[in-house]
Amino acid sequence: MTKIIDGKKIAEDIKIRLKKEIDLLKDEGVVPCLGVILVGNNPASKIYVNMKEKECIKLGITSDVRRLNEESSQGEVNRNIEEFNNNKNVNGILVQLPLPNHLNESEILMRINPEKDVDGLHPINFGKILDGKPNFIPCTPAGILEIFEYENIDPEGKHAVIIGRSNIVGKPLAALLMRKAKGGNATVTICHTRTKNLAHFTKQADIIIAAMGVPEGIKGDMVKEGSVVIDVGLNRIDDPLSKKGYRLVGDVHFESVEKKVKAITPVPGGVGPLTIAMLLKNTVYAAKTQHLSSMNK
Ligand code: GUN
Repeated sequence: MTKIIDGKKIAEDIKIRLKKEIDLLKDEGVVPCLGVILVGNNPASKIYVNMKEKECIKLGITSDVRRLNEESSQGEVNRNIEEFNNNKNVNGILVQLPLPNHLNESEILMRINPEKDVDGLHPINFGKILDGKPNFIPCTPAGILEIFEYENIDPEGKHAVIIGRSNIVGKPLAALLMRKAKGGNATVTICHTRTKNLAHFTKQADIIIAAMGVPEGIKGDMVKEGSVVIDVGLNRIDDPLSKKGYRLVGDVHFESVEKKVKAITPVPGGVGPLTIAMLLKNTVYAAKTQHLSSMNK
């Protein structure tokens, strides 16, 4: 029987534990706060930011969302980051990606105080992950590690094939899975859009992580019997049979892959809910560490 991994349930369990931590912090006069910067009108980004805001409120985390217009300058974005950096009450900072093309993403991410970088995208936090001593872990890779722990999937000695080389998922996840530590010790292959004969690699995988942004790109004949498949994709495809005229699919062709594998994450309801839960977890962690360091001053 294939295990369909219930990401919503895992995320709910994590949020119950987080709520207790937040209540304890509140007893000490600390209310975790997340500062969010959204630039422009990307429809998916708007939905993600609204979801993040809603989840913060549900758990008792304050959020300060700056919605800047599409034409905002680099200086304007930087000023907002600076305000969050200097505000002791803001514990975590997130700049929703992608940014409009005229903005310099790396320069903007570099301005975030690494102690408040709950997305784990500042070069210092990126470097710490490569060094095997992560501080903040980007939310999607962190969510995938939570899934493995919850489902007793130990990557040690397994061949993990990651499809996608983004800074947000593929690169940090590769470093985490090859880490000489519990939850790591995998043999890692990274494939991407220029990989020739993708199936050659995916067929060898004990664990596949599909994060390449190609709707249903991984088909049943590309995976090994008994493997574990994690689908990071979230794509809208036309579907005249559905009421909305579209449906959401991942980067994995669920119907054909599900039949062959030991475990698989569905879309929606797989990795997505974990990504938000990890953002909340990182924000609570930031609030805690900042509170502790302020007490030691
Ligand atoms: N856009 C899509 N996913 C993410 C994420 O995890 N963090 C940020 N900042 N932007 C995103």
